[in-house]
Amino acid sequence: MEQFSISKTFFPGVPLIDLSKPESKSQLVKACEDFGFFKVINHGIPTQFITELESEAVKFFSLPISHKEKTGPPDPFGYGSKKIGNNGDVGWVEYLLLNTNTQSDYHKFASIFGEAAEKFRCIVNEYVSRVKKMACEILEMLADGLKIQERNGFSKLLMDEESDSVFRLNHYPPCPTEFGESSKNLIGFGEHTDPQIISVLRSNNTSGLQISLTEGNWISIPPDSNSFFINVGDSLQVMTNGRFKSVRHRVVTNSSKSRLSMIYFGGPPLSEKIAPLPSLIKGEDDSLYKEFTWFEYKKSAFKSRLADNRLGFFEKIAAS
Ligand code: OGA
Ligand code: NI
Repeated sequence: MEQFSISKTFFPGVPLIDLSKPESKSQLVKACEDFGFFKVINHGIPTQFITELESEAVKFFSLPISHKEKTGPPDPFGYGSKKIGNNGDVGWVEYLLLNTNTQSDYHKFASIFGEAAEKFRCIVNEYVSRVKKMACEILEMLADGLKIQERNGFSKLLMDEESDSVFRLNHYPPCPTEFGESSKNLIGFGEHTDPQIISVLRSNNTSGLQISLTEGNWISIPPDSNSFFINVGDSLQVMTNGRFKSVRHRVVTNSSKSRLSMIYFGGPPLSEKIAPLPSLIKGEDDSLYKEFTWFEYKKSAFKSRLADNRLGFFEKIAAS
Protein backbone atom coordinates (compact mmCIF):
# COMPACT_ATOMS: atom_id res chain seq x y z
CA MET A 1 0.00 0.00 0.00
CA GLU A 2 1.19 3.51 -0.75
CA GLN A 3 2.65 5.17 2.31
CA PHE A 4 2.75 8.81 3.18
CA SER A 5 4.87 10.71 5.59
CA ILE A 6 3.38 14.08 6.31
CA SER A 7 5.24 16.36 8.66
CA LYS A 8 4.58 14.91 12.09
CA THR A 9 1.90 12.43 11.10
CA PHE A 10 2.82 9.20 9.43
CA PHE A 11 -0.14 7.80 7.52
CA PRO A 12 0.28 4.13 6.77
CA GLY A 13 -2.87 4.00 4.65
CA VAL A 14 -6.55 3.84 5.51
CA PRO A 15 -7.09 1.44 8.45
CA LEU A 16 -8.93 -1.57 7.08
CA ILE A 17 -11.16 -3.24 9.63
CA ASP A 18 -12.73 -6.64 9.18
CA LEU A 19 -15.85 -6.47 11.32
CA SER A 20 -16.09 -10.26 11.47
CA LYS A 21 -12.77 -10.58 13.33
CA PRO A 22 -12.59 -10.52 17.14
CA GLU A 23 -9.61 -8.16 17.11
CA SER A 24 -11.60 -5.50 15.29
CA LYS A 25 -12.74 -3.85 18.54
CA SER A 26 -9.31 -2.59 19.51
CA GLN A 27 -8.50 -1.74 15.88
CA LEU A 28 -11.63 0.42 15.72
CA VAL A 29 -10.60 2.33 18.85
CA LYS A 30 -7.10 2.87 17.50
CA ALA A 31 -8.36 4.07 14.11
CA CYS A 32 -10.71 6.57 15.81
CA GLU A 33 -7.88 7.84 18.01
CA ASP A 34 -5.28 8.05 15.27
CA PHE A 35 -7.30 9.32 12.31
CA GLY A 36 -11.06 9.39 12.99
CA PHE A 37 -11.35 7.56 9.71
CA PHE A 38 -11.32 3.94 8.56
CA LYS A 39 -12.76 1.46 6.11
CA VAL A 40 -14.82 -1.59 7.02
CA ILE A 41 -15.22 -4.91 5.23
CA ASN A 42 -17.36 -7.94 6.08
CA HIS A 43 -19.99 -5.45 7.13
CA GLY A 44 -22.88 -7.79 6.52
CA ILE A 45 -24.83 -5.55 4.16
CA PRO A 46 -25.72 -7.53 1.03
CA THR A 47 -24.56 -5.86 -2.21
CA GLN A 48 -28.08 -5.95 -3.56
CA PHE A 49 -29.27 -3.20 -1.19
CA ILE A 50 -26.37 -1.00 -2.19
CA THR A 51 -26.61 -1.42 -5.93
CA GLU A 52 -30.38 -1.01 -5.94
CA LEU A 53 -30.08 2.35 -4.22
CA GLU A 54 -27.20 3.34 -6.45
CA SER A 55 -29.25 2.71 -9.56
CA GLU A 56 -32.17 4.73 -8.15
CA ALA A 57 -29.78 7.57 -7.40
CA VAL A 58 -28.31 7.43 -10.91
CA LYS A 59 -31.85 7.57 -12.30
CA PHE A 60 -32.72 10.54 -10.12
CA PHE A 61 -29.61 12.56 -11.00
CA SER A 62 -30.10 11.85 -14.74
CA LEU A 63 -33.48 13.60 -14.72
CA PRO A 64 -33.66 17.06 -16.31
CA ILE A 65 -32.66 19.77 -13.88
CA SER A 66 -36.16 21.26 -14.02
CA HIS A 67 -37.55 17.99 -12.63
CA LYS A 68 -34.93 17.66 -9.95
CA GLU A 69 -35.50 21.21 -8.83
CA LYS A 70 -39.11 20.38 -8.11
CA THR A 71 -37.82 18.35 -5.17
CA GLY A 72 -35.79 21.32 -3.86
CA PRO A 73 -34.64 23.54 -2.36
CA PRO A 74 -33.01 21.68 0.53
CA ASP A 75 -34.88 23.43 3.36
CA PRO A 76 -33.47 21.39 5.00
CA PHE A 77 -34.52 18.35 2.96
CA GLY A 78 -34.65 18.06 -0.82
CA TYR A 79 -32.54 18.60 -3.92
CA GLY A 80 -29.71 21.11 -4.03
CA SER A 81 -27.10 22.01 -6.58
CA LYS A 82 -23.72 23.76 -6.19
CA LYS A 83 -24.76 25.73 -3.13
CA ILE A 84 -23.94 23.95 0.15
CA GLY A 85 -25.59 25.58 3.15
CA ASN A 86 -26.58 29.24 3.32
CA ASN A 87 -23.26 30.91 3.96
CA GLY A 88 -21.65 31.08 0.55
CA ASP A 89 -20.14 27.60 0.22
CA VAL A 90 -20.28 26.21 -3.30
CA GLY A 91 -18.97 23.05 -4.92
CA TRP A 92 -19.14 21.07 -8.14
CA VAL A 93 -21.87 18.85 -6.73
CA GLU A 94 -25.58 18.19 -6.74
CA TYR A 95 -27.24 16.37 -3.89
CA LEU A 96 -30.37 15.08 -2.29
CA LEU A 97 -30.86 15.43 1.45
CA LEU A 98 -33.36 13.12 3.09
CA ASN A 99 -34.79 12.83 6.56
CA THR A 100 -34.32 9.33 7.94
CA ASN A 101 -37.19 9.44 10.42
CA THR A 102 -40.28 10.82 8.78
CA GLN A 103 -41.67 10.23 5.36
CA SER A 104 -42.89 13.80 5.00
CA ASP A 105 -40.57 14.76 2.14
CA TYR A 106 -41.75 12.12 -0.23
CA HIS A 107 -44.69 14.07 -1.56
CA LYS A 108 -42.06 16.17 -3.33
CA PHE A 109 -40.97 13.05 -5.21
CA ALA A 110 -44.44 11.89 -6.11
CA SER A 111 -44.76 14.88 -8.43
CA ILE A 112 -41.81 13.81 -10.58
CA PHE A 113 -41.59 10.09 -9.96
CA GLY A 114 -45.29 9.28 -9.88
CA GLU A 115 -45.72 5.78 -8.54
CA ALA A 116 -41.99 5.16 -8.61
CA ALA A 117 -41.71 7.52 -5.61
CA GLU A 118 -42.98 4.74 -3.38
CA LYS A 119 -40.33 2.35 -4.68
CA PHE A 120 -37.63 4.98 -4.18
CA ARG A 121 -38.76 5.49 -0.60
CA CYS A 122 -38.68 1.76 0.15
CA ILE A 123 -35.19 1.35 -1.29
CA VAL A 124 -33.86 4.32 0.72
CA ASN A 125 -35.51 3.05 3.92
CA GLU A 126 -34.13 -0.43 3.48
CA TYR A 127 -30.61 0.86 2.88
CA VAL A 128 -30.72 3.38 5.74
CA SER A 129 -31.99 0.87 8.26
CA ARG A 130 -29.16 -1.55 7.42
CA VAL A 131 -26.46 1.10 7.48
CA LYS A 132 -27.80 2.47 10.75
CA LYS A 133 -27.66 -1.01 12.26
CA MET A 134 -24.04 -1.34 11.19
CA ALA A 135 -23.23 2.13 12.58
CA CYS A 136 -24.76 1.10 15.92
CA GLU A 137 -22.74 -2.12 15.98
CA ILE A 138 -19.56 -0.16 15.37
CA LEU A 139 -20.50 2.32 18.12
CA GLU A 140 -21.13 -0.55 20.53
CA MET A 141 -17.78 -2.14 19.71
CA LEU A 142 -16.17 1.25 20.31
CA ALA A 143 -17.94 1.63 23.66
CA ASP A 144 -16.72 -1.85 24.61
CA GLY A 145 -13.23 -1.03 23.43
CA LEU A 146 -13.27 2.11 25.61
CA LYS A 147 -14.55 0.02 28.53
CA ILE A 148 -17.66 2.12 28.88
CA GLN A 149 -20.12 0.30 31.12
CA GLU A 150 -23.11 1.19 29.03
CA ARG A 151 -22.40 -0.65 25.80
CA ASN A 152 -25.10 1.34 24.05
CA GLY A 153 -23.87 4.69 25.39
CA PHE A 154 -23.32 6.02 21.86
CA SER A 155 -25.61 3.79 19.82
CA LYS A 156 -28.74 4.56 21.84
CA LEU A 157 -28.63 8.10 20.47
CA LEU A 158 -28.99 6.79 16.91
CA MET A 159 -31.62 4.25 17.97
CA ASP A 160 -33.70 6.94 19.67
CA GLU A 161 -36.95 7.68 17.85
CA GLU A 162 -36.02 11.35 17.93
CA SER A 163 -32.53 10.77 16.55
CA ASP A 164 -31.65 13.66 14.25
CA SER A 165 -30.00 11.58 11.54
CA VAL A 166 -29.74 12.52 7.89
CA PHE A 167 -29.18 10.67 4.66
CA ARG A 168 -27.42 12.33 1.76
CA LEU A 169 -26.83 11.39 -1.86
CA ASN A 170 -24.03 13.38 -3.52
CA HIS A 171 -23.41 13.41 -7.25
CA TYR A 172 -20.24 14.99 -8.62
CA PRO A 173 -20.57 15.28 -12.39
CA PRO A 174 -17.40 14.90 -14.48
CA CYS A 175 -15.35 18.12 -14.51
CA PRO A 176 -16.11 20.24 -17.55
CA THR A 177 -13.19 20.12 -20.00
CA GLU A 178 -13.51 23.80 -20.86
CA PHE A 179 -11.98 24.55 -17.47
CA GLY A 180 -8.78 22.95 -18.77
CA GLU A 181 -5.94 22.71 -16.29
CA SER A 182 -7.86 24.57 -13.64
CA SER A 183 -10.44 21.79 -13.51
CA LYS A 184 -7.84 19.71 -11.73
CA ASN A 185 -8.63 19.71 -8.06
CA LEU A 186 -11.80 21.73 -8.54
CA ILE A 187 -13.65 21.56 -5.26
CA GLY A 188 -16.58 19.16 -5.24
CA PHE A 189 -17.33 19.47 -1.53
CA GLY A 190 -15.24 21.90 0.50
CA GLU A 191 -13.24 20.84 3.54
CA HIS A 192 -15.18 20.26 6.74
CA THR A 193 -15.75 17.89 9.60
CA ASP A 194 -19.11 16.15 9.97
CA PRO A 195 -20.99 17.55 12.98
CA GLN A 196 -22.90 14.40 13.96
CA ILE A 197 -21.70 11.32 15.88
CA ILE A 198 -20.70 9.03 13.03
CA SER A 199 -20.91 9.06 9.23
CA VAL A 200 -21.08 5.98 7.01
CA LEU A 201 -20.04 6.66 3.42
CA ARG A 202 -20.29 4.45 0.41
CA SER A 203 -19.24 5.65 -3.02
CA ASN A 204 -18.91 4.28 -6.50
CA ASN A 205 -15.41 3.58 -7.80
CA THR A 206 -14.59 7.20 -8.68
CA SER A 207 -11.91 8.86 -6.55
CA GLY A 208 -12.17 12.34 -5.06
CA LEU A 209 -12.40 11.91 -1.29
CA GLN A 210 -9.44 13.33 0.64
CA ILE A 211 -8.71 13.58 4.33
CA SER A 212 -6.42 15.95 6.19
CA LEU A 213 -4.49 14.99 9.30
CA THR A 214 -2.32 18.08 9.46
CA GLU A 215 -3.33 21.47 8.20
CA GLY A 216 -2.96 21.97 4.49
CA ASN A 217 -1.91 18.37 3.75
CA TRP A 218 -4.42 16.28 1.86
CA ILE A 219 -4.36 12.53 1.44
CA SER A 220 -6.35 11.01 -1.43
CA ILE A 221 -8.45 8.04 -0.40
CA PRO A 222 -8.66 5.35 -3.08
CA PRO A 223 -12.35 4.60 -3.69
CA ASP A 224 -13.76 1.15 -2.93
CA SER A 225 -17.36 0.50 -3.82
CA ASN A 226 -17.43 -2.76 -1.85
CA SER A 227 -16.55 -1.23 1.50
CA PHE A 228 -17.85 1.49 3.75
CA PHE A 229 -15.80 4.42 4.95
CA ILE A 230 -16.52 5.62 8.47
CA ASN A 231 -15.89 9.13 9.82
CA VAL A 232 -15.87 10.16 13.44
CA GLY A 233 -18.07 13.27 13.76
CA ASP A 234 -17.66 16.31 16.02
CA SER A 235 -20.19 14.99 18.55
CA LEU A 236 -18.26 11.75 19.06
CA GLN A 237 -15.06 13.74 19.49
CA VAL A 238 -16.78 15.66 22.30
CA MET A 239 -18.35 12.56 23.88
CA THR A 240 -14.88 10.97 24.06
CA ASN A 241 -13.41 14.25 25.35
CA GLY A 242 -11.17 14.56 22.31
CA ARG A 243 -9.86 11.00 22.42
CA PHE A 244 -11.48 10.25 19.05
CA LYS A 245 -10.76 12.70 16.23
CA SER A 246 -13.42 14.18 14.00
CA VAL A 247 -11.65 13.91 10.66
CA ARG A 248 -11.36 16.88 8.27
CA HIS A 249 -12.22 15.84 4.73
CA ARG A 250 -13.26 17.16 1.31
CA VAL A 251 -14.02 16.00 -2.21
CA VAL A 252 -12.14 17.15 -5.30
CA THR A 253 -13.34 16.49 -8.82
CA ASN A 254 -10.52 14.88 -10.69
CA SER A 255 -11.65 12.64 -13.46
CA SER A 256 -13.91 12.28 -16.43
CA LYS A 257 -16.14 9.94 -14.47
CA SER A 258 -18.84 11.07 -12.12
CA ARG A 259 -18.66 10.26 -8.44
CA LEU A 260 -21.73 9.15 -6.58
CA SER A 261 -21.68 8.84 -2.83
CA MET A 262 -24.29 8.06 -0.24
CA ILE A 263 -23.77 9.03 3.35
CA TYR A 264 -25.70 8.22 6.50
CA PHE A 265 -25.03 10.75 9.25
CA GLY A 266 -26.01 9.33 12.64
CA GLY A 267 -26.96 12.14 14.98
CA PRO A 268 -28.48 12.46 18.48
CA PRO A 269 -31.92 13.83 19.37
CA LEU A 270 -32.05 17.65 19.24
CA SER A 271 -32.47 17.97 23.00
CA GLU A 272 -29.51 15.70 23.79
CA LYS A 273 -26.72 17.20 25.85
CA ILE A 274 -23.43 16.55 24.09
CA ALA A 275 -20.74 16.07 26.71
CA PRO A 276 -17.92 13.65 27.51
CA LEU A 277 -19.21 10.37 28.93
CA PRO A 278 -18.61 10.40 32.71
CA SER A 279 -16.41 7.30 32.59
CA LEU A 280 -14.03 9.03 30.18
CA ILE A 281 -13.31 11.99 32.45
CA LYS A 282 -12.35 12.35 36.08
CA GLY A 283 -14.83 15.13 36.74
CA GLU A 284 -16.71 17.84 34.91
CA ASP A 285 -13.69 20.10 35.20
CA ASP A 286 -11.81 17.68 32.98
CA SER A 287 -14.14 18.24 30.05
CA LEU A 288 -12.46 20.08 27.19
CA TYR A 289 -15.83 21.43 26.11
CA LYS A 290 -18.51 23.79 27.37
CA GLU A 291 -21.95 22.28 27.74
CA PHE A 292 -24.24 22.30 24.73
CA THR A 293 -27.16 20.44 23.23
CA TRP A 294 -27.16 19.00 19.72
CA PHE A 295 -29.75 21.66 18.82
CA GLU A 296 -27.38 24.42 19.93
CA TYR A 297 -24.48 22.90 18.04
CA LYS A 298 -26.51 22.53 14.87
CA LYS A 299 -27.76 26.09 15.11
CA SER A 300 -24.23 27.34 15.49
CA ALA A 301 -22.94 25.12 12.64
CA PHE A 302 -25.67 26.38 10.29
CA LYS A 303 -24.40 29.92 10.79
CA SER A 304 -20.83 28.98 9.95
CA ARG A 305 -18.90 28.24 6.76
CA LEU A 306 -18.07 24.62 5.93
CA ALA A 307 -14.36 25.04 6.65
CA ASP A 308 -14.80 26.83 9.98
CA ASN A 309 -13.62 25.09 13.11
CA ARG A 310 -17.16 24.73 14.39
CA LEU A 311 -16.17 23.06 17.62
CA GLY A 312 -13.79 25.87 18.47
CA PHE A 313 -16.64 27.94 19.84
CA PHE A 314 -17.48 25.22 22.35
CA GLU A 315 -13.96 24.51 23.54
CA LYS A 316 -13.04 25.60 27.01
CA ILE A 317 -10.27 28.16 26.97
CA ALA A 318 -7.38 26.59 28.81
CA ALA A 319 -6.79 28.43 32.07
CA SER A 320 -3.15 29.43 32.17
C1 OGA B 1 -20.38 14.98 3.17
C2 OGA B 1 -19.15 14.43 2.57
C3 OGA B 1 -18.18 13.09 0.79
C4 OGA B 1 -18.59 12.55 -0.54
O1 OGA B 1 -21.43 14.98 2.47
O2 OGA B 1 -20.34 15.42 4.34
O3 OGA B 1 -18.13 14.53 3.18
O4 OGA B 1 -17.89 11.70 -1.07
N1 OGA B 1 -19.24 13.80 1.38
O5 OGA B 1 -19.61 12.99 -1.06
NI1 NI C 1 -18.50 15.10 5.22
